Amino acid sequence: MTWRKLIPSLFDLHRDDRMPKQFAIIASDRIAMSDVALHQRLLGGVKQFARKGNFKSADWKDFSNHITYQQGDFEDPATYSALATRCEQTGKNWRGKAIHIFHMATPPTLFGVIPEMLAGAGLNRDLALARIVVEKPIGHDLQSARELNRTLTKSFHESQIFRIDHYLGKETVQNILAFRFANPLFEPIWNRHYIERVTLTVAETVGVGHRGVYYERAGALRDMVQNHLLQLLCLVAMEPMASFAANELRDKKLDVLHAIRRISPNAVHQYAIRGQYAKGVVAGKKVCGYRQEEKVSPRSKMETFAALNLFVDKWRWEGVPFYLITGKCLPKQVSEIAIQFRDVPHQLFPREATSDWHPSRLVMTIQPEEAMVLGFQAKYPGPKMKLRPVEMHFNYRESFSAPSPNAYETLLWDVMNNDPTLFMRADQVEAAWRLLMPVLEVWANNPARDFPNYAAGNWGPKAAVKFSGRVKWKGKSIK
Ligand code: BG6
Repeated sequence: MTWRKLIPSLFDLHRDDRMPKQFAIIASDRIAMSDVALHQRLLGGVKQFARKGNFKSADWKDFSNHITYQQGDFEDPATYSALATRCEQTGKNWRGKAIHIFHMATPPTLFGVIPEMLAGAGLNRDLALARIVVEKPIGHDLQSARELNRTLTKSFHESQIFRIDHYLGKETVQNILAFRFANPLFEPIWNRHYIERVTLTVAETVGVGHRGVYYERAGALRDMVQNHLLQLLCLVAMEPMASFAANELRDKKLDVLHAIRRISPNAVHQYAIRGQYAKGVVAGKKVCGYRQEEKVSPRSKMETFAALNLFVDKWRWEGVPFYLITGKCLPKQVSEIAIQFRDVPHQLFPREATSDWHPSRLVMTIQPEEAMVLGFQAKYPGPKMKLRPVEMHFNYRESFSAPSPNAYETLLWDVMNNDPTLFMRADQVEAAWRLLMPVLEVWANNPARDFPNYAAGNWGPKAAVKFSGRVKWKGKSIK
């Protein structure tokens, strides 16, 4: 996390002149390491993961001068008193009081320990200046999430806690708000009268790689749906905010989570589908099955694919199915939200004109393309009335010359600026877990008998393709 995300993002912020005038990064771990060795290691991550282009050694030298290492055991109070002393010494000659941000880029087992230890050393005390950043997983289920939130709030006030869901930092995800609420065009039709269904897909070509230990306890539902996909759904389904205040946005999202119909245990098989990849071919390369991955049980029943059909019980959305689909080792990496509009109420064109007819559709592509595509009918040139589907494109790359920052740049900058808008509040996290508990419990109590049930490089188990009712658009599906 530090190597791949945090340091490259901070380096990019520094390169863009967006870091504070005075700052220090103190990395801590239990192994012995010199500052020079740490810099050497971090440089590898920066070269690989910082925004591409114009890397200059001078920039790195300047930036890395701010990074020091402190060896210490996370469970030993001495580590924290040493840290407190170092923080004090570092900020001694700075103008003004320093902000202290503690980013727990650690295994989740330490999430319960570190906040209390920081509090023990008095590092939590300043409500305005001390902040703690928590990475997912925020709990393993509702109960553990509640416990973790209790532990965190014993030592830090909710306003000091920044729970990261990195999807919320993505430009295209923030653009959902801009698109919906900065243009009066779509809001009048953003409801059950005009929208037939919404499909949110986060498809990955990668398998679990070296994360077998984590994934064996998580699975697709915990890893992707509880956080990223449900957050996307909230942004699509929420009511307009009164202002851009952090809690206003978070309240509106929470309303959606509360309005989502709970799946009763005996209906789980109807509204949720799971899958696990077998060996196969992805992007022309042979890959092993999930059960053959490093540190994964050869009899594992963990899902690597999940699809849910949810309903948001509100006037605006009554009866509109929301499909949430995610999986590893699928044929294509794509994250997108597809809004399928209803068909025209009355077909007035002659049959010959409509042989290639597709109801309108809006696809917001989050990655790898950062785009929006609106598909609609147009008249095909010629003397006869003949209709054809066409597409209108908006693409970030073509429309803006500025490169999109990666999600962590945005989020870390927000923590420094004390803006919690894009972070998860305790009640949101718990509401998302509450919603998924029936599915998690039914799946845990009824291990899948047909796993593995899709070959790597396919679009998940057969049942899922039918389940989401994907329509084809111009001969291509959203795949
Ligand atoms: C993480 C999950 O939260 O998101 C990973 O733990 C997943 O399993 C990743 O691969 C996907 O993020 P992105 O930004 O690459 O879509």
